[in-house]
Amino acid sequence: MVPTATCRVCAGTVTEFMDFGRQPLSDAFRDPADTSEEFFYRLAVGACADCEMVQMMEEVPRERMFHEGYPYYSSGSSVMRDHFRSTAQKLLAEHAAGDDPFVVELGCNDGVMLETVARAGVRHLGMEPSTGVSEVARDKGVRVRNAFFEKATALRIREEDGPADVVYAANTFCHIPYVDSVLEGITALLAPGGVFVFEDPYFGDVSEKASFDQFYDEHFFLFTATSVRNMARRFGLELVDVERLPTHGGELRYTLAREGSRTPAPAVGALLAEEDKRALTSPEVLSSFTRRVGENRERLVEELRSLRDQGRRVVGYGATAKSATVLNFCGIGPDLLEFICDTTPAKQGRLTPGSHVMVRDHGAFTDSYPDYALLLAWNHAEEIMAKETGFRDAGGRWLRYVPDVRTT
Ligand code: SAH
Ligand code: TMP
Ligand code: ZN
Repeated sequence: MVPTATCRVCAGTVTEFMDFGRQPLSDAFRDPADTSEEFFYRLAVGACADCEMVQMMEEVPRERMFHEGYPYYSSGSSVMRDHFRSTAQKLLAEHAAGDDPFVVELGCNDGVMLETVARAGVRHLGMEPSTGVSEVARDKGVRVRNAFFEKATALRIREEDGPADVVYAANTFCHIPYVDSVLEGITALLAPGGVFVFEDPYFGDVSEKASFDQFYDEHFFLFTATSVRNMARRFGLELVDVERLPTHGGELRYTLAREGSRTPAPAVGALLAEEDKRALTSPEVLSSFTRRVGENRERLVEELRSLRDQGRRVVGYGATAKSATVLNFCGIGPDLLEFICDTTPAKQGRLTPGSHVMVRDHGAFTDSYPDYALLLAWNHAEEIMAKETGFRDAGGRWLRYVPDVRTT
């Protein structure tokens, strides 16, 4: 029998379509001297037959993932820094035009977006439970509260700072299983004409590219316009705009407003119709996704084994959270990857969770180019290709696995 779970949004039945087996926490990079037992959970994903939400079958306690030592610093990519600067400018122009506007961000991380809001002298608050990254935000002049955003914390903001004109969240709302608490908090916090704008990886892109590594502990939901529209309705909110973004391998930016307060943009109806046609959560489309993922796994492992047997040097590029799923699901360890280079100091000198590949600094890659580099940070391909032309010039080859396994 196919396993089922209860939908976190509508309490309907979620049917599993993909089981990745035992997985570690994606951002739990280990000190090599640490001999304590690693935490594992079962990573499996399903879709709700009633509201179409794609979600994990099991939940990981939030404090295990988001804490003082959370090692993901949003400012590590120049493309993302530019993206969040222009996002801040857009939010300010479109939603913070009145007298003394107030902007709230969930998961402000190292202040990559709010820095621009703070510089503009606009009242703001970042909610960030991971204290380490938030210190960097404070150093940039961003006002941060170290707490998980949920109903109770939202009510406190409302009491102390008044209503928000815009609540924004990037790559954070999909990390939160307790949507009822968050959306009730947001409806209490928003001014009557206020909006909740959020952007997250789009299941439409995941389905098209078979980018299975978008599934890991922190990504509890993979949204679509349809599932977000259905979810919003339950809280008196309406999907009034959608915008496709090229970030992180394909994302959607959603705008929610109080029901009836704004006329939905034509893009909403168009995308809902497109999703209807694609039948993204139908059993046929989901089982074809599962099949393609299995094929890509086999090809990737075959390729890496064959390179090893030929005596080639292969390293990984980018110790992303996503790579935990690829490495552990495919059984790729230090026998197949010499090391992984990553520019994040908090990850360097540590072992990848579960798969135990050493993370080294960028110099380890450039000082002695390998024959092949497995592009684990494939969502940053453009930025990486632009700066690593020396690798190709020296005869190096990229090994990619999204949307399929190929060397370039
Ligand atoms: N917005 C940034 C960071 C994304 S990482 C970007 O797009 O790059 C996700 C962040 O959400 C982490 O910093 C994590 O600590 C934070 N987070 C997790 N749950 C949260 C919650 N309930 N409220 C606010 N932030 C949360
Ligand atoms: P992300 O895919 O979750 O954004 O993570 C990207 C990781 O890749 C992060 O650890 C930083 C790292 N990285 C590099 O090492 N070099 C780069 O040029 C870029 C863009 C990212
Ligand atoms: Zn549901």
